[in-house]
Amino acid sequence: MAFFHNPPPWQSPTASITAESAYLTRRRVLKGLLGLGMATTILPLTGCKAGGAPLDELEKTYNLPALPLRRNGAFGVGDRPLTSQNLASQYNNFYEFGGNKSIWRAAQALPTDEWTLEVTGLVNQPRTYNLDDLRKTFDLEERIYRFRCVEAWSMVLPWVGFPMHKIIAAVDPQPAAKFVQFTSFYDQEITPGPGFHLGGLPWPYREGLRIEEMANELAFFAVGIYGKELPKQHGAPIRAVLPWKYGFKGAKSIVKIEFVAEQPATYWHTLIPNEYGFEANVNPNKPHPRWSQAQERFIGPGATLDWEMRETLPYNGYGEQVAHLYG
Ligand code: MTE
Repeated sequence: MAFFHNPPPWQSPTASITAESAYLTRRRVLKGLLGLGMATTILPLTGCKAGGAPLDELEKTYNLPALPLRRNGAFGVGDRPLTSQNLASQYNNFYEFGGNKSIWRAAQALPTDEWTLEVTGLVNQPRTYNLDDLRKTFDLEERIYRFRCVEAWSMVLPWVGFPMHKIIAAVDPQPAAKFVQFTSFYDQEITPGPGFHLGGLPWPYREGLRIEEMANELAFFAVGIYGKELPKQHGAPIRAVLPWKYGFKGAKSIVKIEFVAEQPATYWHTLIPNEYGFEANVNPNKPHPRWSQAQERFIGPGATLDWEMRETLPYNGYGEQVAHLYG
Protein backbone atom coordinates (compact mmCIF):
# COMPACT_ATOMS: atom_id res chain seq x y z
CA MET A 1 0.00 0.00 0.00
CA ALA A 2 1.54 3.27 -1.10
CA PHE A 3 0.49 4.97 2.07
CA PHE A 4 2.53 2.74 4.31
CA HIS A 5 5.96 4.32 4.12
CA ASN A 6 8.88 2.28 5.28
CA PRO A 7 8.97 2.50 8.24
CA PRO A 8 5.45 3.74 8.79
CA PRO A 9 5.72 7.34 9.90
CA TRP A 10 3.78 6.71 13.08
CA GLN A 11 6.35 4.25 14.38
CA SER A 12 8.67 6.97 15.51
CA PRO A 13 10.43 6.65 18.83
CA THR A 14 8.19 7.07 21.77
CA ALA A 15 7.34 10.33 23.29
CA SER A 16 5.49 11.32 26.30
CA ILE A 17 3.79 14.35 27.48
CA THR A 18 3.72 16.14 30.72
CA ALA A 19 0.16 16.27 31.96
CA GLU A 20 -1.33 19.70 31.84
CA SER A 21 -2.77 20.70 35.13
CA ALA A 22 -6.40 21.37 34.68
CA TYR A 23 -7.82 21.63 38.14
CA LEU A 24 -10.86 23.80 38.01
CA THR A 25 -13.83 24.03 40.24
CA ARG A 26 -17.36 23.60 39.03
CA ARG A 27 -18.16 27.09 40.20
CA ARG A 28 -15.48 28.46 37.94
CA VAL A 29 -16.76 26.33 35.09
CA LEU A 30 -20.27 27.53 35.54
CA LYS A 31 -19.17 31.11 35.77
CA GLY A 32 -17.39 30.53 32.49
CA LEU A 33 -14.25 32.12 33.88
CA LEU A 34 -11.97 29.41 32.64
CA GLY A 35 -14.18 26.70 31.25
CA LEU A 36 -13.25 23.07 31.48
CA GLY A 37 -10.13 21.41 30.22
CA MET A 38 -11.23 22.90 26.92
CA ALA A 39 -9.58 25.95 28.39
CA THR A 40 -6.21 24.34 28.90
CA THR A 41 -4.88 26.19 25.90
CA ILE A 42 -4.66 29.27 28.00
CA LEU A 43 -2.18 27.47 30.22
CA PRO A 44 1.42 27.82 29.10
CA LEU A 45 1.61 24.85 26.76
CA THR A 46 4.61 26.13 24.88
CA GLY A 47 7.68 24.36 26.09
CA CYS A 48 5.71 21.31 27.28
CA LYS A 49 8.05 18.44 26.43
CA ALA A 50 8.09 14.70 26.44
CA GLY A 51 7.61 13.50 29.95
CA GLY A 52 6.67 10.18 31.41
CA ALA A 53 4.54 7.78 29.40
CA PRO A 54 6.32 4.40 29.45
CA LEU A 55 6.70 3.24 25.86
CA ASP A 56 5.83 -0.42 26.42
CA GLU A 57 2.66 0.43 28.30
CA LEU A 58 1.62 3.04 25.76
CA GLU A 59 2.34 0.76 22.80
CA LYS A 60 0.20 -1.98 24.27
CA THR A 61 -2.76 0.36 24.07
CA TYR A 62 -2.42 0.78 20.32
CA ASN A 63 -0.70 -2.37 19.07
CA LEU A 64 -4.09 -3.82 18.20
CA PRO A 65 -5.23 -6.10 15.36
CA ALA A 66 -4.81 -4.68 11.86
CA LEU A 67 -8.00 -3.96 9.96
CA PRO A 68 -8.67 -4.97 6.36
CA LEU A 69 -8.85 -1.66 4.57
CA ARG A 70 -8.57 0.14 1.29
CA ARG A 71 -6.56 3.33 1.22
CA ASN A 72 -8.79 6.04 -0.23
CA GLY A 73 -6.32 8.31 -1.98
CA ALA A 74 -8.98 10.94 -2.60
CA PHE A 75 -8.50 12.03 1.01
CA GLY A 76 -5.03 13.16 1.84
CA VAL A 77 -3.25 16.15 3.24
CA GLY A 78 -0.53 17.42 0.96
CA ASP A 79 1.10 20.10 3.05
CA ARG A 80 1.57 18.34 6.39
CA PRO A 81 3.07 15.07 7.59
CA LEU A 82 1.18 12.57 9.70
CA THR A 83 1.25 13.06 13.41
CA SER A 84 3.21 10.30 15.13
CA GLN A 85 1.07 7.66 16.78
CA ASN A 86 2.97 7.98 20.03
CA LEU A 87 1.84 11.56 20.30
CA ALA A 88 -1.70 11.06 18.98
CA SER A 89 -2.30 8.20 21.42
CA GLN A 90 -1.23 10.05 24.53
CA TYR A 91 -2.52 13.56 23.91
CA ASN A 92 -6.28 13.13 23.99
CA ASN A 93 -9.49 14.65 25.17
CA PHE A 94 -11.89 12.17 26.75
CA TYR A 95 -13.46 13.91 29.71
CA GLU A 96 -15.26 10.80 30.90
CA PHE A 97 -11.81 9.65 32.04
CA GLY A 98 -10.36 12.89 33.30
CA GLY A 99 -9.85 16.54 32.64
CA ASN A 100 -6.33 16.61 31.25
CA LYS A 101 -4.70 15.42 28.05
CA SER A 102 -3.13 12.34 29.65
CA ILE A 103 -6.15 10.09 29.96
CA TRP A 104 -4.71 7.36 27.74
CA ARG A 105 -4.07 5.04 30.68
CA ALA A 106 -7.38 5.68 32.46
CA ALA A 107 -9.28 5.13 29.21
CA GLN A 108 -8.14 1.50 29.14
CA ALA A 109 -10.98 0.84 31.62
CA LEU A 110 -13.50 1.31 28.80
CA PRO A 111 -15.28 -2.03 28.29
CA THR A 112 -15.54 -2.53 24.52
CA ASP A 113 -15.94 -6.31 24.09
CA GLU A 114 -19.71 -6.56 24.18
CA TRP A 115 -20.37 -3.32 22.33
CA THR A 116 -23.63 -2.62 20.61
CA LEU A 117 -24.46 0.44 18.55
CA GLU A 118 -28.14 1.26 18.31
CA VAL A 119 -29.35 3.30 15.34
CA THR A 120 -32.81 4.50 16.11
CA GLY A 121 -35.33 7.37 16.13
CA LEU A 122 -37.15 8.63 13.07
CA VAL A 123 -36.04 5.84 10.73
CA ASN A 124 -37.85 3.12 8.80
CA GLN A 125 -35.20 0.44 9.44
CA PRO A 126 -33.82 0.75 12.97
CA ARG A 127 -30.70 -1.37 13.49
CA THR A 128 -28.44 -2.62 16.20
CA TYR A 129 -24.88 -3.48 15.26
CA ASN A 130 -22.33 -5.37 17.28
CA LEU A 131 -18.63 -4.86 16.69
CA ASP A 132 -18.32 -7.65 14.20
CA ASP A 133 -21.29 -6.37 12.19
CA LEU A 134 -19.75 -2.92 12.09
CA ARG A 135 -16.43 -4.11 10.74
CA LYS A 136 -17.97 -6.55 8.26
CA THR A 137 -21.07 -4.72 7.04
CA PHE A 138 -19.22 -1.62 5.96
CA ASP A 139 -16.15 -1.79 3.72
CA LEU A 140 -13.41 -0.09 5.64
CA GLU A 141 -11.33 2.61 4.07
CA GLU A 142 -8.46 4.73 5.25
CA ARG A 143 -8.56 8.49 4.94
CA ILE A 144 -6.00 10.99 6.05
CA TYR A 145 -7.71 14.02 7.55
CA ARG A 146 -6.64 17.20 9.23
CA PHE A 147 -7.86 17.33 12.82
CA ARG A 148 -8.34 20.72 14.50
CA CYS A 149 -9.25 21.02 18.16
CA VAL A 150 -11.11 24.10 19.37
CA GLU A 151 -8.20 24.52 21.79
CA ALA A 152 -6.07 25.59 18.79
CA TRP A 153 -3.92 22.49 18.40
CA SER A 154 -4.05 20.22 15.39
CA MET A 155 -2.87 16.88 14.04
CA VAL A 156 -3.00 14.91 10.80
CA LEU A 157 -4.47 11.47 11.40
CA PRO A 158 -5.05 8.34 9.27
CA TRP A 159 -8.54 7.19 10.23
CA VAL A 160 -10.04 3.84 9.23
CA GLY A 161 -13.79 3.55 8.91
CA PHE A 162 -16.68 4.34 6.62
CA PRO A 163 -18.62 7.43 5.57
CA MET A 164 -21.67 8.26 7.68
CA HIS A 165 -23.96 8.28 4.66
CA LYS A 166 -23.75 4.47 4.68
CA ILE A 167 -25.61 4.46 7.99
CA ILE A 168 -28.18 6.86 6.54
CA ALA A 169 -28.70 4.46 3.64
CA ALA A 170 -28.99 1.48 5.97
CA VAL A 171 -31.69 2.91 8.26
CA ASP A 172 -33.72 5.00 5.79
CA PRO A 173 -34.59 8.14 7.81
CA GLN A 174 -38.14 9.45 7.68
CA PRO A 175 -38.77 12.91 6.20
CA ALA A 176 -39.31 14.35 9.69
CA ALA A 177 -35.70 13.50 10.65
CA LYS A 178 -33.74 16.75 10.38
CA PHE A 179 -30.91 16.11 12.83
CA VAL A 180 -28.91 13.26 14.24
CA GLN A 181 -27.65 12.83 17.78
CA PHE A 182 -24.64 10.75 18.84
CA THR A 183 -24.47 9.46 22.41
CA SER A 184 -21.22 8.24 23.94
CA PHE A 185 -20.77 5.42 26.43
CA TYR A 186 -21.36 6.51 30.00
CA ASP A 187 -21.35 4.59 33.26
CA GLN A 188 -20.72 6.46 36.48
CA GLU A 189 -18.64 3.61 37.87
CA ILE A 190 -16.37 3.37 34.84
CA THR A 191 -16.29 6.90 33.49
CA PRO A 192 -16.00 9.07 36.58
CA GLY A 193 -15.49 12.35 34.72
CA PRO A 194 -12.84 14.97 35.25
CA GLY A 195 -12.92 15.06 39.03
CA PHE A 196 -12.96 18.85 39.19
CA HIS A 197 -16.70 19.23 39.24
CA LEU A 198 -19.24 18.59 41.96
CA GLY A 199 -21.77 16.98 39.69
CA GLY A 200 -24.09 18.51 37.18
CA LEU A 201 -22.08 17.98 34.01
CA PRO A 202 -24.42 17.02 31.20
CA TRP A 203 -23.40 13.36 30.80
CA PRO A 204 -23.53 11.33 28.70
CA TYR A 205 -21.37 13.13 26.15
CA ARG A 206 -23.58 13.88 23.20
CA GLU A 207 -23.05 15.55 19.88
CA GLY A 208 -25.12 16.16 16.80
CA LEU A 209 -25.38 17.26 13.20
CA ARG A 210 -27.91 18.35 10.67
CA ILE A 211 -28.78 15.44 8.36
CA GLU A 212 -27.25 17.31 5.39
CA GLU A 213 -23.97 17.52 7.29
CA MET A 214 -24.09 13.83 8.15
CA ALA A 215 -24.73 13.02 4.49
CA ASN A 216 -21.64 14.92 3.34
CA GLU A 217 -18.93 12.66 1.98
CA LEU A 218 -16.41 13.87 4.57
CA ALA A 219 -18.48 12.87 7.59
CA PHE A 220 -16.93 9.64 8.82
CA PHE A 221 -17.29 6.95 11.48
CA ALA A 222 -13.86 5.70 12.52
CA VAL A 223 -13.36 2.18 13.86
CA GLY A 224 -9.59 2.33 13.46
CA ILE A 225 -6.54 4.53 13.14
CA TYR A 226 -3.00 3.97 11.81
CA GLY A 227 -4.19 0.80 10.06
CA LYS A 228 -5.42 -0.90 13.26
CA GLU A 229 -8.42 -1.06 15.53
CA LEU A 230 -9.16 2.16 17.36
CA PRO A 231 -7.39 2.43 20.74
CA LYS A 232 -9.66 3.16 23.66
CA GLN A 233 -8.25 6.63 24.24
CA HIS A 234 -9.33 7.60 20.70
CA GLY A 235 -12.91 6.50 21.34
CA ALA A 236 -13.07 2.77 20.62
CA PRO A 237 -14.81 1.02 19.12
CA ILE A 238 -16.51 3.68 16.99
CA ARG A 239 -16.34 7.48 17.00
CA ALA A 240 -17.33 10.35 14.77
CA VAL A 241 -14.77 12.26 12.69
CA LEU A 242 -15.82 15.56 11.12
CA PRO A 243 -12.67 17.19 9.77
CA TRP A 244 -14.17 20.59 8.91
CA LYS A 245 -15.48 21.05 12.44
CA TYR A 246 -13.74 21.47 15.76
CA GLY A 247 -12.72 18.17 17.31
CA PHE A 248 -15.33 18.25 20.07
CA LYS A 249 -18.03 17.48 17.48
CA GLY A 250 -16.46 14.03 17.02
CA ALA A 251 -18.19 12.04 19.77
CA LYS A 252 -16.17 9.05 20.96
CA SER A 253 -17.26 5.53 21.90
CA ILE A 254 -20.73 5.93 20.42
CA VAL A 255 -23.49 3.66 21.72
CA LYS A 256 -26.46 5.34 20.08
CA ILE A 257 -27.21 7.23 16.87
CA GLU A 258 -30.65 8.77 16.94
CA PHE A 259 -32.44 10.54 14.10
CA VAL A 260 -34.55 13.38 15.50
CA ALA A 261 -36.72 16.29 14.38
CA GLU A 262 -35.19 19.09 16.48
CA GLN A 263 -31.64 20.24 17.08
CA PRO A 264 -30.42 17.89 19.83
CA ALA A 265 -28.76 18.88 23.09
CA THR A 266 -24.98 18.53 22.93
CA TYR A 267 -22.44 18.38 25.73
CA TRP A 268 -20.28 21.50 25.36
CA HIS A 269 -23.04 23.62 23.90
CA THR A 270 -25.23 22.79 26.91
CA LEU A 271 -22.42 23.52 29.34
CA ILE A 272 -21.01 26.75 27.89
CA PRO A 273 -23.24 27.83 24.98
CA ASN A 274 -21.52 31.12 24.27
CA GLU A 275 -18.17 29.38 23.76
CA TYR A 276 -19.10 26.15 21.98
CA GLY A 277 -21.72 26.44 19.27
CA PHE A 278 -23.72 23.61 17.79
CA GLU A 279 -22.32 24.15 14.28
CA ALA A 280 -18.69 24.57 15.36
CA ASN A 281 -17.12 24.83 11.91
CA VAL A 282 -13.41 25.65 11.98
CA ASN A 283 -13.19 29.38 11.34
CA PRO A 284 -9.97 31.39 11.71
CA ASN A 285 -11.94 34.64 11.57
CA LYS A 286 -14.17 33.84 14.51
CA PRO A 287 -12.15 33.88 17.72
CA HIS A 288 -13.13 31.79 20.67
CA PRO A 289 -14.24 34.25 23.39
CA ARG A 290 -10.97 33.55 25.21
CA TRP A 291 -8.41 32.99 22.45
CA SER A 292 -7.75 33.48 18.77
CA GLN A 293 -8.55 30.76 16.26
CA ALA A 294 -6.38 32.30 13.51
CA GLN A 295 -3.47 29.93 14.08
CA GLU A 296 -2.94 26.46 15.45
CA ARG A 297 -0.19 24.44 17.06
CA PHE A 298 0.39 21.59 14.63
CA ILE A 299 1.58 18.45 16.43
CA GLY A 300 3.55 16.55 13.82
CA PRO A 301 5.74 13.49 13.31
CA GLY A 302 8.27 14.23 16.03
CA ALA A 303 9.04 12.19 19.08
CA THR A 304 8.28 14.91 21.57
CA LEU A 305 5.37 17.21 21.98
CA ASP A 306 6.71 20.05 19.89
CA TRP A 307 4.59 21.92 17.46
CA GLU A 308 4.81 24.30 14.57
CA MET A 309 2.50 27.24 14.30
CA ARG A 310 0.30 27.02 11.21
CA GLU A 311 -2.37 29.28 9.81
CA THR A 312 -5.84 27.88 10.43
CA LEU A 313 -7.87 27.49 7.26
CA PRO A 314 -11.60 28.15 6.90
CA TYR A 315 -13.44 24.86 7.34
CA ASN A 316 -10.03 23.43 8.25
CA GLY A 317 -9.15 23.38 4.53
CA TYR A 318 -12.31 21.53 3.47
CA GLY A 319 -14.30 24.51 2.16
CA GLU A 320 -14.63 23.08 -1.33
CA GLN A 321 -16.45 20.04 0.04
CA VAL A 322 -18.64 21.68 2.68
CA ALA A 323 -19.03 25.45 2.25
CA HIS A 324 -22.22 24.95 0.20
CA LEU A 325 -23.90 23.51 3.32
CA TYR A 326 -23.67 26.91 4.96
CA GLY A 327 -24.46 29.22 2.04
N1 MTE B 1 -16.05 12.38 22.96
C1 MTE B 1 -16.35 12.05 24.23
N2 MTE B 1 -17.22 11.07 24.45
N3 MTE B 1 -15.77 12.69 25.28
C2 MTE B 1 -14.89 13.71 25.11
O1 MTE B 1 -14.40 14.29 26.09
N4 MTE B 1 -13.69 15.13 23.51
C3 MTE B 1 -13.80 15.75 22.19
C4 MTE B 1 -13.87 14.70 21.08
N5 MTE B 1 -14.81 13.67 21.42
C5 MTE B 1 -14.56 14.09 23.78
C6 MTE B 1 -15.15 13.38 22.71
C7 MTE B 1 -12.71 16.67 21.93
S1 MTE B 1 -12.74 18.15 22.76
C8 MTE B 1 -11.72 16.38 21.04
S2 MTE B 1 -10.55 17.55 20.60
C9 MTE B 1 -11.60 15.05 20.44
O2 MTE B 1 -12.58 14.14 20.91
C10 MTE B 1 -10.22 14.46 20.74
O3 MTE B 1 -10.03 13.25 20.04
P1 MTE B 1 -8.67 12.45 20.22
O4 MTE B 1 -8.41 12.34 21.68
O5 MTE B 1 -8.88 11.13 19.56
O6 MTE B 1 -7.60 13.28 19.54
